[in-house]
This record gives sequence, structure tokens and C-alpha cells, in this order.
Amino acid sequence: MRLREARVIVVAAESDFTADLVVSRLDRDAFVRMDPGRLHESLTVGGRFAAGAWTTVVDDVWRTARIGPGCAVYWRKPTHPDTHPDPDDRWRAEENTIALLGLLRAQPVLWVNDPVVVDAAEHKPAQLASAASHGMRVPDTLFTSDPARARAFVTDHHDKVVVKALTQRHTTFVPTTRLRASDDLDAIAGTLHYLQALVENRLFDARVTVVGDRVFAASITTPGALDWRTVLAADCRHAPITPPADVERACREHVRDLGLRYAALDFVVTADGWTYLETNCAGEFGWIEALAGLPISTEIARLLTHHTRTTATRHRVVPIRARM
Ligand SMILES: Nc1ncnc2c1ncn2[C@@H]1O[C@H](COP(=O)(O)OP(=O)(O)OP(=O)(O)O)[C@@H](O)[C@H]1O
Ligand SMILES: [Mg+2]
Repeated sequence: MRLREARVIVVAAESDFTADLVVSRLDRDAFVRMDPGRLHESLTVGGRFAAGAWTTVVDDVWRTARIGPGCAVYWRKPTHPDTHPDPDDRWRAEENTIALLGLLRAQPVLWVNDPVVVDAAEHKPAQLASAASHGMRVPDTLFTSDPARARAFVTDHHDKVVVKALTQRHTTFVPTTRLRASDDLDAIAGTLHYLQALVENRLFDARVTVVGDRVFAASITTPGALDWRTVLAADCRHAPITPPADVERACREHVRDLGLRYAALDFVVTADGWTYLETNCAGEFGWIEALAGLPISTEIARLLTHHTRTTATRHRVVPIRARM
């Protein structure tokens, strides 16, 4: 049986419902899906370096993808090698993941998103500076492990400060929390804390999802919570909204400057306008697509296939000279 030629590579865990959503918008023959953290024998990957160039081919039982300029890669949280209890399985998963990533990164494909770029773009200090450089309003922010500096910051902001966690991996969930001068600020010594001026009088939170040049925004209204993640989704209201044109433009440019084609940005909205909080480079979107009715997965699929079509067409054009 002749394999169909695919141009989209979907890299995701098998039980990833959000990846399923994007895949459901793609033509059946347009993509090969794989999870390097759990490679099956029915799927093969081969990369050959000869005459100064890589030739890389990925096959499943129906489709084959020759990786090159006409291809797009949708890389979304494949199974992490550390999740395998057996050390040999962990090693195999790690080998597969590193080899696949290296082979794909050696080609000029369209990435949504390159995980190496995501790792670099996740850092909050650079995100805040980038957002401000594009004209977004960013709260006064302090990173410190010095109790005296933290106390001075809280006092300068009249006791209206929040503290936020940068990671959520090693403890139970740490929500955004108010910090006051009366709190035991000596306890921060030895740990860098992320403090920020409290944005008061919130009307609602906003989640802005950028896909290529398209911007999808939703409001998230809670019954007065500081952090919407502490409220059950059923107790929040989610609605599609249109951000102000300058915010929309700034989001698009900021995401592009981070080297990404997809990102989800968080804002607090008050009567004064939109205040930027952060960019989730690999942020989830399935929930907000469903709750606010935003066609995000459709747009991701369109971006992946539009690229493969336009680039493939361009590469097939025979130069006039060659035809003579
Ligand atoms: N400076 C602030 N003033 C008021 N509310 C804030 C502030 N910073 C964050 N919040 C609230 O805390 C919640 C989470 O915000 P944010 O996305 O900035 O946190 P995070 O810890 O960086 O989250 P993530 O887990 O998405 O990385 C939101 O409801 C947001 O409105
Ligand atoms: Mg957030």
C-alpha cells in the first residue's frame, strides 16, 4: 500500500484531549501523530546525514512525512520520560525525545511551538520587559529574598501587594496571595520571592490566546476572588470579548518577539484599562475554547495546514529559467 504524504507532525501524549481537538480539525491524511515518550513499533523515524544534509522521514502505517520546509510541527507536551517507573523505559523515552527533537530542529519547519524556544520564553522577568516594550501596562514588580527590601516594597505600595509562585511543581498549588507589612516577611530570607503591586478594582480577568496573527480573548469573571484558579469553573463566568486594538497589537508583537506562534496571555482588566500579568508559552486552551466558544483549535489547525500548503506550493514552482 502506498503511504499518503503528510506534512504536519503532531507530537503529543496519546491521552491528550487538547491535541485530539486540533487533530480532529486536520484532514486524516495530512498529519502523522507521535509520542516520543512512548514510541510504538508501528511508527518509525529515520534521519540520515549525507552529502552535508539531513533527510528525515517519519512514517506511521498510513502516512509518511519527509521533514522539510513544507512541514509544520505541532509540539505539545509529549509523555515526559521521567513518568516511566522502569529505568530502561525512561532511557528509551529520553533517547526518542531528544533524537526526534534534534532531527526536527535541524530542518526549517514551522513550529507551534519549538520547545527549546518555549523554555527560554517562559521566564517572567523577560516577559514583563517585553510586554512593557510593546506598550502594555505592567505592575511594579520586585524579585527579592531580602526581607528589608520586601518590607519597603509593601510599604511603598500602601500594603497592596501580592506574592506569586513561579513554579507549581514541588508543592500543592500556590495561588496568588496578598502580602501585608504585618505578615512575617523575615520568612522570605533565602528564597527569591516574586512580589507585585496589587491591581485593584478588577472588573474581570482576561485570557488572550494568540495563534499566528489571530487573537482570541475571553473574560473570566469571579465572585470577587483574587485568583480565579481558586474558584470552580462553574462559579466563574466566561465570555468572548474584543480587547482594545492597541492591546491586541501588542499581544501579537510580544508573542512574535518571543519566537512563538502560540501563547496564552493573562490580564487584569479594570475601568482604567488592561494590565498585563504573564504569558503562558505552552498554556492550555481547551477549557477556554469550550467555555467561551473560541475557535482556537480550528485556527491552530489552519495555521499548520496553511503553512504546509503555501510552502509546498512555493517549493513546487519551477523557476522560469529552468523551464527554458
Ligand atoms: N498584580 C496582581 N494584582 C491583582 N491580581 C493579580 C496580580 N497578579 C496576579 N493576579 C491574579 O492572580 C491570578 C493568577 O495570575 P497570574 O496568571 O499572573 O499568576 P501565575 O502564578 O503567574 O499563573 P500561572 O500558573 O498561569 O503561571 C489571576 O486571577 C490574576 O488576576
Ligand atoms: Mg496565569
